[in-house]
Amino acid sequence: MKHRSPRGMRVHAAAAALLLAALVLSGDVLPALGGGAPSFDYKDALTKSIMFLEAQRSGKLPPNNRIKWRGDSGLQDGELAHVDLTGGYYDAGDNVKYGLPLAFTVTTLAWTALAFTNELQAAGELDNVHAAVKWGTDFFLKAAAKKNHLWVQVGDPNADHQCWVRPENMKTPRTLYEINENTPGSEIAAETAAAMAAASMVFRNEKLYSRRLLNKAKLLFQFAKTHRGTYDGECPFYCSYSGYNDELLWAATWLFLATKRQVYADFISHEAISSSVAEFSWDLKFPGAQVLLAELNMTSGGGLQSFKAQADNFVCAVLPDTPFHQVFITPGGMIHLRDGANSQYVTGTAFLFVAYSDVLLRTNQVVMCGNQPVQPARLREFAKQQIDYLLGANPEGRSYVVGFGVNPPTQPHHRGASTPVLPLGYVVNCGMSFNDWFAPDRPNPNELTGAIMGGPDGSDHFTDKRSNSSCTEPCTYINSLSIGPLAALAIRGANLLATH
Ligand SMILES: *[C@@H]1O[C@H](CO)[C@@H](O)[C@H](O)[C@H]1NC(C)=O
Ligand SMILES: *[C@@H]1O[C@H](CO)[C@@H](O)[C@H](O)[C@H]1NC(C)=O
Repeated sequence: MKHRSPRGMRVHAAAAALLLAALVLSGDVLPALGGGAPSFDYKDALTKSIMFLEAQRSGKLPPNNRIKWRGDSGLQDGELAHVDLTGGYYDAGDNVKYGLPLAFTVTTLAWTALAFTNELQAAGELDNVHAAVKWGTDFFLKAAAKKNHLWVQVGDPNADHQCWVRPENMKTPRTLYEINENTPGSEIAAETAAAMAAASMVFRNEKLYSRRLLNKAKLLFQFAKTHRGTYDGECPFYCSYSGYNDELLWAATWLFLATKRQVYADFISHEAISSSVAEFSWDLKFPGAQVLLAELNMTSGGGLQSFKAQADNFVCAVLPDTPFHQVFITPGGMIHLRDGANSQYVTGTAFLFVAYSDVLLRTNQVVMCGNQPVQPARLREFAKQQIDYLLGANPEGRSYVVGFGVNPPTQPHHRGASTPVLPLGYVVNCGMSFNDWFAPDRPNPNELTGAIMGGPDGSDHFTDKRSNSSCTEPCTYINSLSIGPLAALAIRGANLLATH
C-alpha cells in the first residue's frame, strides 16, 4: 500500500534564532553516537543497493540481468495509446510506474554518478550506476517524445492494488496518464527535465545521446514553467504537497550546470522561489538545489539571502546538536519524519550531508547555524551514523537492508519478491493471490537483494511482516539516495574524506 508524505516541514529560522547556544560544533569534540565506531562491509552494501534497482526494472531485461527471479514484464506498456512506454522502473512494492518519484530517482542517481565518480569507479560500480540512470532516461525519451506532452504514469494503482501478482504475470490495466498544455504538471515536467539534464552530464562522452537528453530537458523545463499547474492524477499515491517551485528551481539548476547558459542563471536569480526546509525527498528538492547552488555562489530568488545560507538552514534543522534543530531523531539516532518510506529521509540526508561537506571543503567554508560554525567533519559523521543505523547500528541490532548484515528483513512488501516464479502466461487469480502470497507469515521466496526497507517507526521498532508496508516496503528513491554515501564510505573510509 502507499503512504505518501504530507507537507514538508518549514524551518522557522526567526523563532529558532531566539535560542541561545554556546555549543562548539565540530566533529572533533562531538564523538560519534554509540561510542565504538561500528564498521560494515560498505562495498557489499553498495553493490547490493544498486542490485535492488535492477530488481525494479520494467520492460525487456538485458542478457546481463543479475536478478535471476526477474523476467520481462510490462511489454505492452503504452499499447493503449499505440505508443511504446516499455522500460523504466516499478516504484516500490507494486507494479505501477509513477513519473514523479521515478524522475527523482533518476535525478539523484545521475547526481550520484557525477559527485561520486571516482568512488564508484574504484568500487567497480560506475558502469552499473550509469546503466541504472540509462534505464530511466531511455524510458523518459519515449515518454517525452512529443512537445508539451509527457506520459507520466503507467498502471492504474487502484486496480493494481487489487491483485498481489508479480509484474511478469500481471493482467491488471496498464492505464496511461499524461500531461499536456490543458492538463499541466509542472512538478513532473520539471523533475523529468532535471533528470535528463543531470543525465546529459553523466553521458557527456556519448555525444548524441547526451544532446538528445539535454534538448528534451530544455523543452520540458520550458513546458513546466510556461504551463504552470500541479497535476493531481498521481494522487492519493503521490500528491505533490510542496508545490512545484522546488522542482522549477531544481530543474533550472541542473540545466544551468549542464549548459552554463545565462538564461537559467537569470531564472534562478530573479524568478525562482526558494525557501528553507528541513526535508529532502521525492516531493521536496529545495535543499538539493541549494547545496548545488551554494557552490555557484548565487543569491536566492532575487533576494539578498544566499543559497548557501539556505543549505546551512537545512543542516541546522537536521542536526540534533544545533539550536535550530527541528527534525525528530529517534532514541536510537535515526531521522524520523513520518512512517512509510521514512528511510528516504535517512538516506537523503546522508547523501546531501556528504555532498555538501565536499562543497564546503572545496570552497573552504563551514556551515553557520546562527553564529555557531559547524565543520564539514560533523556532517560526515552524522551521515555515517544514519547509514550505519540502516546497516545494523540500531537498537534492534539488525539490518534493514535485504540480504545484508545481521538478521536482515525477510518479508519485504513487494509483489515480485513474495510470489513464486510462475510460467509465462500463467493467469493469477487476483482474489486468491492475497491468501496465497501476501498473507502467509513466511519469508519471501525471492530475495530482494539490497532493498532498503521503509524502516522502523519513531520508537526504533520494526516489524518484519509483509502486511506492515510502512516498515517493509522498499522504494527506488530510498536506494538511489544511499548509493553515494555507501560509495564514499566504501572507498574513502569511515571519515569520508575525499581521497582525490
Ligand atoms: C561568493 O561571492 C561573494 C561576493 O561576490 C564573495 O565575497 C565570496 O568569496 C564568494 N564565495 C565563494 C565561495 O566563491
Ligand atoms: C508496523 O510496525 C511498527 C513497528 O513495530 C508499528 O509501530 C506499527 O504500528 C505497525 N503498523 C501496522 C499497520 O501494524
